[in-house]
This record gives sequence, structure tokens and C-alpha cells, in this order.
Amino acid sequence: MRSLIWMRLAAGASLAAGVLAAADVHKPKAPHPAIGDPEAIEAGRQLFTSGCAGCHGLTGEGGRGPKLRDSGMWHSLDDEALFKIIKFGIPNTEMPGSHQPDEKVWQTTAFVKALGSPAIEAPPPGDIRHGEEIFWGKGGCGGCHGLRGKGGKAGPDLANVGGMRSAGVIRESIVDPDADATEAWRKVSLTLHDGSVREGLLRNRNNFSVQIQDAKGEIHLALASQIKSITLAKSSPMPGDYGKRLTRKELDDLVAFLSRQSVRPAESVLASAGR
Ligand code: HEC
Ligand code: HEC
Repeated sequence: MRSLIWMRLAAGASLAAGVLAAADVHKPKAPHPAIGDPEAIEAGRQLFTSGCAGCHGLTGEGGRGPKLRDSGMWHSLDDEALFKIIKFGIPNTEMPGSHQPDEKVWQTTAFVKALGSPAIEAPPPGDIRHGEEIFWGKGGCGGCHGLRGKGGKAGPDLANVGGMRSAGVIRESIVDPDADATEAWRKVSLTLHDGSVREGLLRNRNNFSVQIQDAKGEIHLALASQIKSITLAKSSPMPGDYGKRLTRKELDDLVAFLSRQSVRPAESVLASAGR
């Protein structure tokens, strides 16, 4: 743990030094070619699955080792520092390091970075067209999800899913809709004091009111004072068996398609991230 804190300080210090240096030198260092490269990320995913997932989880969700996606102190490190952690481990902790040739370690680094970046910045390989077909056809996804003006309203609009979520999280949302334990979009039934019952999808609730969405997509508000009881479904209304119903390739293609759904093009996402 001590070494972790030390590294955090070191990262902060080098950040400050970087700000000073930036006054004279405006040229940022070019990232290693593996970073953001779909093939390298895919190779890294396989290395990660065999060497790291046992502790960090298949999509970096954490376990014996810390969560690597969405959060984590490694986000404050530059690519070289992350590479070193992955290659050599963190001394005096359970983090062993991979000790593999540099090329493989860079692939793993590219994958770990992709875990914490929006999918559009590190889109996985796959047949995008085919993914789109599955989305509107075999998968029946468009029945519930909107995408650029088409599709249903029984689930979140996915027009910016690739700009907000990492490819790993998108994949997990498809094969395991209950993994993310939010209650929004769950089926809900409200019994009011006047005896009437309202059913729909839960969109929001706080101490004072509950918002539900009816089958037509319209939102209704019920005040807490009106509500006698609330019954909330325990699981997501999204089918939980896509991992079985879709082949591995269909799933890869679907994730590749969704990863490209962003309201901003990749270049501007990268530019605003300061890279
Ligand atoms: C035996 C379990 C184990 C294995 C295998 C493992 N790790 Fe770790 N990893 C850990 C633990 C525990 C930590 C936290 C160490 C500490 O206390 O700072 C960690 C920390 C990290 C960190 C820093 C995370 C942060 O934000 O603090 C990264 C990045 C990382 N591991 C990547 C990997 C990669 C990539 C692999 C595969 C090459 C891997 N790990 C293999 C257990 C493991
Ligand atoms: C019966 C309606 C329904 C169907 C069919 C459905 N979904 Fe969903 N989906 C939802 C709902 C509701 C949520 C939000 C709650 C949750 O995460 O479970 C959701 C969440 C998601 C998310 C996470 C969105 C986010 O903002 O993080 C993704 C990605 C997704 N679905 C993709 C798909 C894909 C791909 C298919 C087809 C293979 C599909 N869904 C089929 C209802 C559906």
C-alpha cells in the first residue's frame, strides 16, 4: 500500500513538472502505437483474460485485485508508468506483474487503458455492419432502445453509449444486465391511497416523488404523499440470456457497432481529453 501512495505522489509531482515544462515545450509525447489500436487491445484482452482477470475480473470489475475500470489510481498515471506497473508489478503487494516481453506488456497496457476509456476512443474490432443488423434484427435490441431517432423507449437511448461507456462495460451490459444494480428502468407498480394502481418503468425516485414511464414513453409523477406502496422488480427488464442466444461473433460485432455510437467523433473526444 505504501508504494501505491508513493506512486500517487510521484504522479502528482510529475504532473506539476509537466505544467512547468509545458511553458517551453508544447509538443506532447506521441503515445505508444499499441495505445488505442484495436488489434493490440484485442491481443491485450486475451493476455488479460489469462494473466490478470483471476484477480481483477474479466472486465476489470475487481476482485482480489482492485477495480481497474471507471476509477482507480492508475488513471492519473501516464502510459509509461502504467506499463511499468503491469510489467514489474507493485513491490510488497499482491500485484505480481506480468514479466512478459515489452510488446505483450504494451498490448496489455492498451487493454487496461481501454477498460477505463470510452469505447469510441478504443473501439474493439468486429463487423460493425453485422452488429447493426443484429441490433435491429435477431437481437431485438431496437424494440427497447432508441438510436438516432429510431427504435423503442423501454430502455435508455444508446446514441452516445460509445462516448460514455468502455467496450467492456457495454459487453457486460448486454450479457449481464443485472450487473449494474441501479433501480432506474426497473418495472414498478405503485398503489396509491385512492386505490388506483400505476405501472411502468421507474425513471427516478427521491424522498418526495416517484417518476414512472408508461408504455407510450410518457413520464408521470406521483408524490410520496399519494403513494401507499411500491413494488419494484428485482431484475432489469432487459433479457438476461443474450450470452446464450447470441454467438460469440454476433456479440463481438454488436459491441463493435455500439462502441462507435457517439455524439462526438473520436478525434474530438481525444482532443478534449488533452491527448
Ligand atoms: C494475484 C493477483 C493479481 C494478479 C494476477 C494481477 N494483479 Fe494487478 N493488482 C493486484 C493487487 C492486489 C493490486 C493492488 C496493489 C496495491 O496494494 O497497491 C493490483 C494493482 C494493479 C494496478 C494498479 C491499480 C490501481 O489503480 O491502483 C494495475 C494497473 C494492475 N494491477 C494491473 C494488472 C494487470 C494488467 C495484470 C496482468 C498482467 C495484473 N494486474 C495481475 C493483484 C493482481
Ligand atoms: C425488453 C427491453 C430491452 C431489450 C430487448 C434490450 N434492452 Fe438493453 N436495456 C434495457 C433497459 C431497461 C436497460 C437499462 C437498465 C439496465 O441496465 O438493465 C438496458 C440497458 C442496456 C445497456 C446499458 C446502457 C447504458 O446506458 O449503460 C446497453 C448497452 C444495452 N441495454 C444494450 C442492449 C442490446 C445490445 C440489446 C440487444 C441484444 C438490448 N439491450 C436489448 C432494455 C432492453
